[in-house]
Amino acid sequence: MFRTSVRDPHNQAVTGGRRAGGGGQRMKEHATAGMRTQVGIVGAGPAGLLLSHLLALRGIDSVVVEIRSRAYCEARQRAGVLEDGTVRLLREAGLADRLDREGLEHGGIHLQFAGERHHLDFRDLAGGRTVTVYAQTEVVRDLIARRLADGAALEFEVSGTAVAGLDTDTPLLSYTAADGSRREVTCDVIAGCDGFHGICRPAIPDRLRTVWERDYPYAWLGILAEAPPATDELIYAHHPDGFALHSMRSMQVSKLYLQVDPDARAEDWPQARIWEALQRRFALPGWAVREGPALDVAITPMRSFVSTPMRYGRLFLAGDAAHIVPPTGAKGLNLAIADVAVLADALSGLLLRGDHRLADGYSDTCLSRVWRSTHFSWWMTTMLHRTPGADPMEAALQLSQLRYVTSSRAASVTLAENYVGYPPLR
Ligand code: FAD
Ligand code: DHB
Repeated sequence: MFRTSVRDPHNQAVTGGRRAGGGGQRMKEHATAGMRTQVGIVGAGPAGLLLSHLLALRGIDSVVVEIRSRAYCEARQRAGVLEDGTVRLLREAGLADRLDREGLEHGGIHLQFAGERHHLDFRDLAGGRTVTVYAQTEVVRDLIARRLADGAALEFEVSGTAVAGLDTDTPLLSYTAADGSRREVTCDVIAGCDGFHGICRPAIPDRLRTVWERDYPYAWLGILAEAPPATDELIYAHHPDGFALHSMRSMQVSKLYLQVDPDARAEDWPQARIWEALQRRFALPGWAVREGPALDVAITPMRSFVSTPMRYGRLFLAGDAAHIVPPTGAKGLNLAIADVAVLADALSGLLLRGDHRLADGYSDTCLSRVWRSTHFSWWMTTMLHRTPGADPMEAALQLSQLRYVTSSRAASVTLAENYVGYPPLR
């Protein structure tokens, strides 16, 4: 099932003594199987899947393991906006056939506050660059289809994932496969693409990690609805009741978000209440949100989180495993993709040419973009949301900032170039 790496054509089994915590356990009916690959990838989200594809294009072998089922990964509702550099990267990697057919290119956004709606024209403000509305679920579907068509080692519904030997040249990835057999894969490198709750970040000793974290006193309720979008481009709305965002998935399906209390539950928000809140927060004379049956409703917490460094020995973290941004500004998915673009080049140097330079610079290279996006997402979030219990001065300052962003070219260029992606992805 697994292709063997060039370095180890004998599919060499690992010997004991260097097994992951719990990796020595054997399932009752099945023996532990030892295998070899160049890159063991934990997590089949956008980061893990794209990394395995980019590595395959460079002739590098990988094994991807994922705790969820394929159906779950393909249905999980998340982000929707791709930066200009993300689209180019997917195109160059031969992954954009459906994206080019079905993605909606947007040349700007609307900002709404104090009963006014203002358009920011990214084509003008950000040197012709744009964003594309194409859901993360579609990116993941395209990636899974392509990896499987290319014969990749991609395993869903694994359990007991563990990593060990990260400070050696042959780290070990172990897991229990869907059929119950315990597997051990000896790797040259492990990529921790297992999201915020994964096992890879905690495998870095605490004393070597620095963490920055901020929780926001609000959450987002997202509704995916069978209703044609009432707008050509996204609307980010500041309102005394709280923030609202009108996005879309196609010309038939809208995606809308509402700021809600951090402890809100979906049961507290029947559909009638959601639509009433959306109509109030987006209200403009002669304009209304188009309503339709909900296909999905979910509540997402808002957090900024950065853990450094993004590398420990032969473990490289990418995407949400290392950093989380609040969704205002649509950066999470784009950051995950930018990380693995850097990582694929770094691993080519390391594994194909024995050149450590890009791998040694990996963490710092990624963190420069991560901090820019962390700041931008924090800035968009605090400019647009109502802080519970804040004094009236906060809203006055937010309105002043929004007026500046929509009237000064310098300020609107700042928003636009960050939104389409800064720095532009090479
Ligand atoms: P993930 O997509 O989280 O993928 C990690 C994968 O690893 C998952 O499939 C997980 O099942 C798997 N995994 C975890 N542990 C293990 C293990 N031990 N063994 C094997 N596999 C494991 N961003 C935006 O820009 N806009 C949004 O509107 C937005 N909404 C979001 C809503 C939610 C509920 C969440 C959680 C995130 C949202 N994000 C949004 C952020 C964006 O979706 C993420 O930044 C993006 O998914 C990061 O991709 P990733 O591959 O790094 O991580
Ligand atoms: C979407 C999500 C975001 O966080 C955002 O800023 C814009 C759009 C979306 O899901 O479409």
